[in-house]
Amino acid sequence: MGTTARQLNRANWDARAAVHGQDRYYDSAGLIAGTVSLGAEEEAAVDRAVGNVGGLDVCHVQCHIGVDSILLARAGARVTGLDFSPASLSKATALAEQCGVSVAFVEADACDPPHGLDGEFDLVYATFGVLPWIDDVDAWMAAAARLVRKGGHLVLIDGHPLVTMFDTYDPPVTDFPYNFNGLHYFDTPGTYTDRSANVSATRTVQYAHGLGEIVTAAVRAGWQIAYLEEATSATFDFRGDLGATEEDSRYRLRLGAEPLPILYTLLARLP
Ligand SMILES: C[S@@+](CC[C@H](N)C(=O)[O-])C[C@H]1O[C@@H](n2cnc3c(N)ncnc32)[C@H](O)[C@@H]1O
Repeated sequence: MGTTARQLNRANWDARAAVHGQDRYYDSAGLIAGTVSLGAEEEAAVDRAVGNVGGLDVCHVQCHIGVDSILLARAGARVTGLDFSPASLSKATALAEQCGVSVAFVEADACDPPHGLDGEFDLVYATFGVLPWIDDVDAWMAAAARLVRKGGHLVLIDGHPLVTMFDTYDPPVTDFPYNFNGLHYFDTPGTYTDRSANVSATRTVQYAHGLGEIVTAAVRAGWQIAYLEEATSATFDFRGDLGATEEDSRYRLRLGAEPLPILYTLLARLP
C-alpha cells in the first residue's frame, strides 16, 4: 500500500515540530518567561466570541506545539489541545510543563476526535494553517460541532483562500485553486518559520476550500454563523512572505492599488 496523504502530512508536521520552537513564529523562551501573548487577531476573535475564557472548557484543534493552548490556559481556561502529530504533542507537553501550566494534549484527527470528548467544550479554537490540511471540510465542521456543548462557540481564523492561491505575489503566480478540487502535492524546502531549516520530510498534500464552501459546511454541521470578517491587513506575517509592513505597521498584499483579503475570521455558535 502506498503512502497516504495523511501519512505524508503527519510525517511533515512531525519533522516541522522538531525545528519549531525558537523562531520568528514561536517564542518558547518568551512563553516560559510569560512575555508572549495571543496575537491581536486571535485575542479580538476570542473576545468577540466569548469575552473572557476564564473558567471555560476550550478545545484547541490542530494545536501544533501548544503555544496558544498554553496562553488560553494561562487566561484561565481548561484547555485540551488536539493534533494528529505526536512530535508536535511531545513538544507541546514539554512546553506546558516548563510553563507550569496544565493542558491535556490528545493525539487525534481533527475530523475524527474521540467520542469521549463529545459535548465537553464551550469553545473550539483553531487558527492559522487549519483547513488547507483537511480534505473534508464538512467532516471538520461536524467534528467541531460534536466537541461543543449546546450554545458552544467556534473561533476559526485562517489565511484567506484568495491569498492561499498565490505561489508568488510579485509577479502574481498562482499554484493552488480557490475551491476544492482534490489533492495538491507540494515539496517546499524548510518551513514557514525558516525556509532554510533542515526539515526531514517536506512532501505534503493540501486542499483548497473557498470561503463559500467553508461557510456552507459550517451551516450544514449546525453552526449558526455569528460573524465573518475578511481582513485586508494583518498584524503578523503568518505566511512568512507578506513582505514589509506599511506605515501603520500592518501587513497588506496589494495587487495594484487595493489590498487583497489576506485572512478570515469565522465565529459561530451551536444553538
Ligand atoms: C500550521 S499548524 C497550526 C498552527 C497553530 N495555529 C500554531 O499557531 O501553532 C497546523 C497543525 O495542524 C495539524 N494537522 C494537520 N492535519 C491534521 C489533521 N487531519 N488532524 C489533526 N491535526 C492536523 C498539524 O500537525 C499541525 O500541528
